[in-house]
Amino acid sequence: MNNNKKAVKKNIILTGFMATGKTATGKELARRLKRRFVDTDQVVEEAAGMKIRDIFEKDGEDRFRDLESVAVAGLESHPAGSLVVATGGGVLMRKENLASLKKHGLLVLLTATPQVIIERVSKTEERPLLDGPDPEKKVKALLARREQCYRACDFNIDTTAKSVQEVAEEIIDYLS
Ligand code: S3P
Repeated sequence: MNNNKKAVKKNIILTGFMATGKTATGKELARRLKRRFVDTDQVVEEAAGMKIRDIFEKDGEDRFRDLESVAVAGLESHPAGSLVVATGGGVLMRKENLASLKKHGLLVLLTATPQVIIERVSKTEERPLLDGPDPEKKVKALLARREQCYRACDFNIDTTAKSVQEVAEEIIDYLS
């Protein structure tokens, strides 16, 4: 069995920086592969009973990261290969999350240029980590800090000039 056939028996984990299309691509991929879709940000919000922005504001980032780690650990209770997962952009910063996701998952890193990320995030107010006067500087600093942990992924796709359908297709091609 080659590596890609093995990959089909794993969960597909879409990770990468904010606004690289993880959730939209994950939904499309899950539809096409007939798998269940799980978004760890949504699991966190349901567990906390509040939006991510409110968790950051009321309880701080560490509390958010703890809830995120619980959401990741919870994925292990699903049969391997049954899920498509979209994670939050900072999930791999904790080593235990990386180990857990790698155990049953193929890690697909979605990327985009800082310019495109900034353009996309400027359209919403959902990213508390980018609050403040200079979001561009924050995006660049976070990207630099995360570069190393993103390298642990199995497969990268630059989503800068691609539609959700194109990205989903690229992942399916990789799997087959
Ligand atoms: C975060 C990304 C967000 C969310 C939280 C923190 C990050 O998810 O988990 O605001 O640390 O990059 P998206 O990547 O889906 O925006």
